[in-house]
Amino acid sequence: MRVVIRVGGSVVASPPNPSLIGKYVDLLKVLKDQGHDIVAIVGGGTLAREFIRIAGELGLDEPKRDWAAIHVSRLFAQLFAMRLGEVACETIPVSLDEAIAYLKRKKIVVMGGLKPGMTTDTVAAMISERMDADMLIKTSDMDGVYTKDPKKYPDARKIEELKFKDLVHLFEKNKHKAGIHQILDPEAVKILQKGRTKVVVVNGFRPTNVLLALKGEKVGTTIQ
Ligand code: UTP
Repeated sequence: MRVVIRVGGSVVASPPNPSLIGKYVDLLKVLKDQGHDIVAIVGGGTLAREFIRIAGELGLDEPKRDWAAIHVSRLFAQLFAMRLGEVACETIPVSLDEAIAYLKRKKIVVMGGLKPGMTTDTVAAMISERMDADMLIKTSDMDGVYTKDPKKYPDARKIEELKFKDLVHLFEKNKHKAGIHQILDPEAVKILQKGRTKVVVVNGFRPTNVLLALKGEKVGTTIQ
């Protein structure tokens, strides 16, 4: 299968968690050995947000603040790639074309952000579209998509299966409730909906959830 794994910065980088990164690296190797084409997109988490803050204090404008965060995400991607060794891309792709070129060479592709004004979710959606991915798995610090932000609303319910149009509706309903949009960037959802890419959102603190999602077992929230 052609699989995109969005490794949440909230999972491996908030704070940076070398042991968990190691587990993801092992997982990526297993998936590669199983014959899958793999692209992993890593976010920068709280460290990226810290750099955005520092760049802001330096008086840098928003695109430049974004660049600071992009570099942090690429640094995490580089750690993944170095730990993966020769099965992975040796440099971090800075364009979709570069990522596709590495895929053609049968390498595991690990990348971070691409350009200001977007999120790594959107990068994951764009590469999914380009490689015609069978599945995008987003690893998150939550167990899936909830009816509302579970950190704020104790009556929030986890949704096991969703259609893209219902997700868009959920975003609309929760527009003013910070948190809900963070599970999957609405910009990314638009691209994924158009490409009819199956998306599974799982709790990333248990990397084996990625294996379950790939096997089609019931885990997290499936959106299609
Ligand atoms: P994300 O919010 O996508 O990363 O990017 P994350 O840490 O993995 O998030 P979780 O785990 O889903 O919560 C962090 C910031 O980096 C900049 C944006 O400012 C974004 O909010 N960024 C990232 C870009 O500007 N362009 C990119 O392509 C990626």
